[in-house]
Amino acid sequence: MTNSEERIRLPALRQKITNATLAAQWIRDGMTVGMSGFTRAGDAKVVPLALAERARQEQLKITLLTGASLGSDVDKTLTEAGALARRMPFQSDPVLRAAINRGDVMFVDQHLSETVELLRTKQMAPIDVAIIEAVAITETGAIVPTTSVGNSASFAILADKVIVEINLAQPLALEGLHDINIPKHRPRREPILLMSPSDRIGSFAIEIPPEKIVAIVITQKADSASNILPPDEETAAIAGHLVDFFNDEIKAGRLTEKLMPLQAGIGTIANAVMTGFIDSPFEHLTMYSEVLQDSTFDLFDAGKLDFASGSSITLSPQKSKQVLADIEKYKDRLVLRPQEMSNHPELIRRLGIIAINTALEADIYGNVNSTHVMGTDMMNGIGGSGDFARNAYLSIFATKSLAKGGRISSIVPMVTHVDHTEHDVDILVTEIGLADLRGLAPRERAQVIIEHCVAEPYRQMLLNYVEEATLRGGHTPHLLEQAFAWHTRYRETGSMLEEQRTLYAVNS
Ligand code: COA
Repeated sequence: MTNSEERIRLPALRQKITNATLAAQWIRDGMTVGMSGFTRAGDAKVVPLALAERARQEQLKITLLTGASLGSDVDKTLTEAGALARRMPFQSDPVLRAAINRGDVMFVDQHLSETVELLRTKQMAPIDVAIIEAVAITETGAIVPTTSVGNSASFAILADKVIVEINLAQPLALEGLHDINIPKHRPRREPILLMSPSDRIGSFAIEIPPEKIVAIVITQKADSASNILPPDEETAAIAGHLVDFFNDEIKAGRLTEKLMPLQAGIGTIANAVMTGFIDSPFEHLTMYSEVLQDSTFDLFDAGKLDFASGSSITLSPQKSKQVLADIEKYKDRLVLRPQEMSNHPELIRRLGIIAINTALEADIYGNVNSTHVMGTDMMNGIGGSGDFARNAYLSIFATKSLAKGGRISSIVPMVTHVDHTEHDVDILVTEIGLADLRGLAPRERAQVIIEHCVAEPYRQMLLNYVEEATLRGGHTPHLLEQAFAWHTRYRETGSMLEEQRTLYAVNS
């Protein structure tokens, strides 16, 4: 059997094989394009670059929707070519980030579970063309995704036309990993019958009328590797505090050694926290998360993790080589779902998820900013953190207490942008310690956060702030005229520290 017979099993569709330049001709100026790709995994890799090439020569600007962030320099190349008018719901590319912050690209930062709900109910412009990476097209013309599902299924179902990139670098053994289930239109919407992370309720592939597939491009490019950093002393300390906390919960009879299904956010800190569970006393763990990073497979290999449900697999170069080669070994313990399902409020509440996400900054009352540097500049986006934090059994936010060599305190009097309100934050943890905020009123929350999570001299600065604010009174005391003084000072002097103060880390 040839590659194309094995990978495109509906013979009529083999006539649609073409090159990236010709496939990109289906996209015209002003269109809305939905592309596969979630946290650098399973993204369309060649047609978007051919599109960028065209945009360098002619007027061509699109609205681009994806699952989450892309790899393969797709966002960078499209931005540099001036091809992006609008972008949603998440990104993490430095070139695109700069264009967003200059106001050149209109970025819509959305909860990842909501994008396709808005499309399905026509509250946003419809998808004209979907570009989906696949390992194969089945005998019935259904599309088998690769290392992510993200929004690919709904994009393909809702688009007028579909372009498929068959990626020969993605092993055929990925087939069978996915569970594609799409909610019905209201008022026929039914409960989602998923009672445990390992339940399967859908099909292995994205079923669409095959005649919607207008072009197929054969590629052979690996996913971009994850760019997270390995655990360090501080992230290990954060993991240690969480292990101690969960041990106390077990002693109190609120959890067992299996904990509850775990969700871990994107990035270095969340991955490091999960890695910390390898040396923990917890057993038979499960994950109900969106992105599965290196730590998921380390936990499998350590015999700690029984099952992981996600929407994508994003790995470092070495881990990727090993996991893709051994995918059969992990397959019966893994499932990839549409992000609408991995992040669905109904399922997160039902399963009782322990959600561990990362804050850029948090304030003394437990409000969290995950997206806006100094209140104005977009970092990546809220991603799925809001889907999980609002509905979790336990909502945990982790951050290092200091950033930029100590010139920034991650715990501030008032956050400059709120992604997660105090109502959605149960636990705040830094390398200094862990603040258990459950059942505490704002005045109590401030004391616990300052005592457990803040490094000196910021701790004393916050104590002074709270003391003065409390004299003025209020349920949530503040000195409004000083609430952003730390951020203003950072903008003006390059440090949040008061002038006369020094901090060892600043000069180190
Ligand atoms: N002010 C300014 N910059 C800050 C900061 C603060 N309070 N706190 C951290 N940073 C900077 C760091 O210095 C670092 O900068 P660098 O890239 O120039 O080195 C960068 O932010 C990333 O911080 P890091 O400590 O390495 O954390 P991370 O890789 O774990 O990422 C988030 C942290 C918040 C950016 C990331 O988790 C995110 O985008 N979260 C939102 C989406 C989300 O939570 N999704 C979850 C479901 S997938």
